Amino acid sequence: MVDCPRHTDHGQPGVTPLLAVLCQRIARSGPLTVAEFMATALGDPGHGYYTTRDPLGCTGDFTTAPEISQMFGELIGLWCADLWQRSGGGPRILVELGPGRGTLIRDAMRAIPGGSGPITVHLVEISPALRQRQRQTLRHLDVTWHTSLADLPQGPSIILANEFYDALPTRQFERARDGWHERLVGFGEEDGRLQFLAGPVIDPGPLIAPDILAAAQPGDIVEHSPARLDHVTALAQRLTAQGGTALIIDYGPAHSAVGDSLQAIRAHRPAPPLAEPGQADLTTHVDFASLADAARRAGACIYGPVTQRAFLRALGIELRANTLLASAPPARRRQITSALDRLIAPDQMGILFKVLAIAHPEAPVPAGFA
Ligand SMILES: C[S@@+](CC[C@H](N)C(=O)[O-])C[C@H]1O[C@@H](n2cnc3c(N)ncnc32)[C@H](O)[C@@H]1O
Repeated sequence: MVDCPRHTDHGQPGVTPLLAVLCQRIARSGPLTVAEFMATALGDPGHGYYTTRDPLGCTGDFTTAPEISQMFGELIGLWCADLWQRSGGGPRILVELGPGRGTLIRDAMRAIPGGSGPITVHLVEISPALRQRQRQTLRHLDVTWHTSLADLPQGPSIILANEFYDALPTRQFERARDGWHERLVGFGEEDGRLQFLAGPVIDPGPLIAPDILAAAQPGDIVEHSPARLDHVTALAQRLTAQGGTALIIDYGPAHSAVGDSLQAIRAHRPAPPLAEPGQADLTTHVDFASLADAARRAGACIYGPVTQRAFLRALGIELRANTLLASAPPARRRQITSALDRLIAPDQMGILFKVLAIAHPEAPVPAGFA
C-alpha cells in the first residue's frame, strides 16, 4: 500500500484533480506503468488532459503543423485528390485520427478540386472539448464522429494522422546492473509526490528488438508502445482488407534507438512529466521502424518514412508559399516565410518529423515518397 500524497489542496501549484484519481488507483493496486500513467493523464474521462480542453494554438500548450500554416492542409488535400484520381472511381471516405481543431480537414477539403464526386468525412476523436471545436471549424461539411477505428464505415479510405500516434501510451524499461526493470510511477515515501520507481527485474526481450537491448548501457531507457503497435496493426489490417491508404505524420526516429523520449509540454515549454498530471501534454517519440514493421506484418505496403521536409517539398510547398507571397501584404509575407521555415527547416520540424504511408498492396504509389 502507498500513502496518498499529503498535498491534496487543489489550489496549490502542482496539485491537480487528477492526482486524487491517481492516488486512489496507486493505493489500491500499486504503482502504474508509464503507459498506464500516460493513458490516465491524457484520457481520464473526468480530468484527462485531452478530455477537458482545447490545448492547441498560441494560448494553449503547443502548436501543430496544420495550425502553423494553411499550406500544410492544402498540400495534404491535393495529395488525397491525386490518390483518388489514380485509384479510379468508387466512394471517397476521408478519415482523420485525432483531428485537434479540425484545421487540417478544413484546409484539405478546400484544396480538393470539386466536381469529382462527394467525399464523406469521418473523425476519430476521444475529446469532447475538441469535438466541439471541430464542429465549429467544420460546420459547413457533413462530418461523422467516432471513438475508435473499429467504428468507421467499411470501404476504401484515406486515413490521416498528424501527431496522433505520439499521444498513445508507451511503456519504458530501464537497464540496471542486475538486468532490466520496468519504469513505474508511484508516490515517494519521503515527500508523497509522484516519482519514477523501478519495478521488479523483467525480461523485455519479447518486446524490444535484440540489437536495441544489446546497445543499452546501465541507466539507459528503452521504449515500447503496445497501444501504438496494436493500433497500427488494426489500421493496416483494415487497409489490406478494404483498400485505401493512411498517411502518418509525427515526430520520432526513422530507426529504433535507445532513449527516454517521454516529454511534457505546458504553455509551449517543457515541463517535468510527473509534475502536474492532466495539465500538460504528454508524449513519446514515435518509433517509425516498429510502426512500419507492424503494418508490413499485417500485409500492407509501406512507403517511407521520409522527413517532413522531403515530403512537403516533393508536394510543392515552396511553390505554394511563393503563390501566397505574391499577393500578400508585408506583415502576412513575414508570417508565410516563417511558417515555411517552421515546417521544413532542418533545425525546426523538417527533420524530426517523419511521414509514413501505409497502403493496400494494389493502391497507387502515394505522392511524396519518390
Ligand atoms: C496532438 S493533438 C493533434 C491534433 C491534430 N491532428 C493537429 O495536427 O493539429 C492529438 C489529437 O489526438 C486526439 N487523441 C488523443 N488520443 C486519442 C485516442 N486514443 N483516440 C482518438 N483521438 C485521440 C486528441 O484529442 C487530439 O485531437
